[in-house]
Amino acid sequence: MKTNRILVAPSILSADFGKMNEEIARMERCGVDVIHCDVMDGIFVPNITFGFKMISDIKKHTSLPLDVHLMIDLPERYVSRFIDSGADWLTFHVEATEKPAAVLESIKKAGIKCGAVISPDTPTSALTDLFPLCDIALLMSVYPGFGGQKFIENSLERMRELKKLRDATGSSALLEIDGGITETNAARVADAGADILVAGNTLFSASEPEKIVEKFHSL
Ligand code: DX5
Ligand code: ZN
Repeated sequence: MKTNRILVAPSILSADFGKMNEEIARMERCGVDVIHCDVMDGIFVPNITFGFKMISDIKKHTSLPLDVHLMIDLPERYVSRFIDSGADWLTFHVEATEKPAAVLESIKKAGIKCGAVISPDTPTSALTDLFPLCDIALLMSVYPGFGGQKFIENSLERMRELKKLRDATGSSALLEIDGGITETNAARVADAGADILVAGNTLFSASEPEKIVEKFHSL
């Protein structure tokens, strides 16, 4: 995957679930690039969000790609159902499965973008062998499970490591970062190598989110 500018991905975890269509339409009007959908199973992370039906219903109401971030144990059990539900990008945690390469291949084979995710305590080297298979590598900059947490500062160093690893493997995977992204740290995160910024609280609680999107795009 190639991109010339930073892509902005609002995390709908911070949206009002009771008016999801309106919330997504509001972000669309701000010029965001993809919709980031956090799927949590209450086992891999201590929180539960939504599953296939939410993804397929959202799909009916937006033309933007759906970036589905699976925070579920044994993602191999459900990837095909998320693909059938309309995921355009499907990412899962390497900590949640013993066969990440096979999961990446099965997603790719279905014709959508695939990606591996690492949590804050997982070494970046966990992605060394996976980079050639990935369209996206997602670095968590908070512990997965909740929106609105504080950015973990060593994520900047970890993003630089990931960029080096990506380049060393000759992969063209995009580097995505998720958790605690704000107007204050976005430029440093982009400098460290991030291609895609996920932002939940920062965008959904803003009075003028379009200005933030514009700012992120110009990094
Ligand atoms: C956390 C989720 C994130 C989160 C981001 O487990 O994967 O996508 O919602 O929200 P903010 O930007 O508020 O940290
Ligand atoms: Zn996420």
